[in-house]
Amino acid sequence: MLPRSSSRPPVVFHWIPFFGSAAAYGKDPIEFFTKCREKYGNVFTFILLGRRITVTLGPQGNDFVLGGKHTVLAAEDVYAPLTNPIFGKDVVYDCPNESLMEQKRFVKVSLTVDKFRSYIGMIDDEVSEFLDHDPSFRIYQMNDINEWGSFFVLNTLSEITILTAARTLQGSEIRNNMNKGFAQLYSDLDHGFTPLHWMFQNLPLASYRKRDAAHAKMSEFYQQILRDRRASQSGHEEDDVMSSLMKQHYRDGRPLRDHEIAHILIALLMAGQHTSSSSISWAMLHIADRPDIQEALYEEQVKFFGTPDGGLRDVVYEEIRQLPVLDAAIRETLRMHPPIHSIMRKARSDIPVPPTLGAPSEDNVYVVPKGDIVLASPIISQVDPQTWQDARTWEPTRWYDADGVAAQANKQYEEGVKVDFGFGLVSKGTVSPYLPFGAGRHRCIGEQFAYVQVSMIIIALIRKLEFRLEEEFPQPDFSVDEFEIYVYLAIATMSSSLPAVFVLV
Ligand code: HEM
Repeated sequence: MLPRSSSRPPVVFHWIPFFGSAAAYGKDPIEFFTKCREKYGNVFTFILLGRRITVTLGPQGNDFVLGGKHTVLAAEDVYAPLTNPIFGKDVVYDCPNESLMEQKRFVKVSLTVDKFRSYIGMIDDEVSEFLDHDPSFRIYQMNDINEWGSFFVLNTLSEITILTAARTLQGSEIRNNMNKGFAQLYSDLDHGFTPLHWMFQNLPLASYRKRDAAHAKMSEFYQQILRDRRASQSGHEEDDVMSSLMKQHYRDGRPLRDHEIAHILIALLMAGQHTSSSSISWAMLHIADRPDIQEALYEEQVKFFGTPDGGLRDVVYEEIRQLPVLDAAIRETLRMHPPIHSIMRKARSDIPVPPTLGAPSEDNVYVVPKGDIVLASPIISQVDPQTWQDARTWEPTRWYDADGVAAQANKQYEEGVKVDFGFGLVSKGTVSPYLPFGAGRHRCIGEQFAYVQVSMIIIALIRKLEFRLEEEFPQPDFSVDEFEIYVYLAIATMSSSLPAVFVLV
């Protein structure tokens, strides 16, 4: 029977009209969405500082937002106020969506398998250099075997993340300036990446002035590198994303202008930093909390890379993808802690919600009114007990047969629809309970790079150190930075079958 009438989705109850549910959503969006789902179903609207946000949950809800047509559900209408002052003019959400699609293609073709092969060694070197010099790793530097040291998880892993991204993606000039002025520019820019800056594009506050000054300086810094590279007579070509972008053309034949190249590189830096560093931080916290998985990870290294003299040889890119325990640990971390919990678009017209996702009654459908922000939160389906056994437990072993997990999940959804489990396992559908990298038109282009970066940093760390937590595992409260993790230099307490008792560099 065709629905005869339509109504707006239910609005979440709130006491203060303009403020709405800002406090509950800001404090813990996962708990907020879970409670709202129990009360209102998969489709509901909440008020966030005067804005109407309509949430659509579950695999069908993910599909509604991520698979929506761009002409109807636009990302730039939501994200631009936050990102344009940071990324800059004429890129990402400050240009027509077709140009963004071309820019994403430029970056994708810059990230070839050859590049990933060379990145492995660079990331390994960066982690080693960091451990050799950072004061938290004094025991390591002094070769103080059987001593425990400690470090702050997010601070340390953020630093390692940005150093490795600078060395690989961003190029040698940026890496060499990392310990000079560049890190401060990054930090000023990063402080402009907050909900306040999203709500209000310009306020007379220091953080806004610093953000704009940092953007101008950073943009000029990249553009000077471009000019220097062109003027250089050496004929030597850097093997990085910048040099690849310098050779690309839009479909109409126009080459990228210098400021566009600069701004794409700034966008990549910002898009990859928090996502990767929070993923590595959560992974290390879980690994420190689970000695059995830590040992399995180490044994996997010995099994695949052990040498007759008891050492461990260098990793090769192709091999990284064949390490089941590491792969499972990363997948499981991204299941429970996907760094982006809210994916948003703006409705450019009234949009009917498919009744299978949610409807007030058999002869009535919900319609999202034009102007609403529409929000998908894949984490809700990623921790849904109806899909995952022990959904709130970090259990990498559930992924050991990843093809099996995907096949099982595929059975749950419409015939022909494939579940996207990331890392190119199956085709890229938008109906899925597991979408840490998003899906559809705005899907992440950094996934392959992130996989190399996250894997290699974990490998480099677990080869050299043992980890344990001194305190209770922190609840996901969106601030793990205060948390300390303990490192142990010796691997002696791990498996007795290991050929090497101590693994030192
Ligand atoms: C888009 C997640 C790392 C660059 C996205 C989206 C997600 C995501 C969920 C979709 C956003 C949306 O639909 O609105 C992640 C995770 C990462 C990661 C979990 C690491 C663990 C990176 C890295 C880079 C990057 C390292 C750059 C090298 C981008 C870009 C987009 C994107 C350019 C496209 C935005 C668009 O088309 O609107 N990412 N990301 N990401 N990501 Fe990532």
